[in-house]
Amino acid sequence: MNFKITAVIFAFTCLLGLNACGGGNGGGLSATLSACPEDSTVTWEQVTPVFQDYCTSCHHSDKVGTERVGATPGVDYDTPELAYNSEASPASTWSEIYTGDMPPGDSTVPEAEAILIHDWLSCGGPQ
Ligand code: HEC
Repeated sequence: MNFKITAVIFAFTCLLGLNACGGGNGGGLSATLSACPEDSTVTWEQVTPVFQDYCTSCHHSDKVGTERVGATPGVDYDTPELAYNSEASPASTWSEIYTGDMPPGDSTVPEAEAILIHDWLSCGGPQ
């Protein structure tokens, strides 16, 4: 297949949401953590429900063995200390969400919630 056709197909499947287009979450999200926005007021209270909805069913410090469904030991999101300073760096936590690799399967963190997590991680995990 020549390059032009491949590029057109890629762009079209991107429109249909059939390929990643540079990020499972794509859209207005930044691929990397940034400087903390000056006007940011994000706190742990706001991001807790997001981690609860999408992560702590597997990544919770109370969960052991098979309860973790294979989630990497030490990578937990049930307290601000753990969520920011887990075995995974803030950058890799963000990368898993941005690429849509986490949570596993078809679900992804919706953009509005993902932005909260992005800012919280960029701002150093404020309590
Ligand atoms: C259904 C269970 C489940 C849920 C929900 C889940 N994870 Fe995971 N997570 C896993 C498994 C299994 C692994 C190890 C295998 C892998 O990396 O795919 C993992 C690994 C990770 C890793 C480590 C990757 C590495 O390279 O070592 C990070 C970081 C992570 N998850 C973040 C998250 C975040 C953030 C969420 C919520 C947005 C989340 N996970 C939701 C099961 C889960």
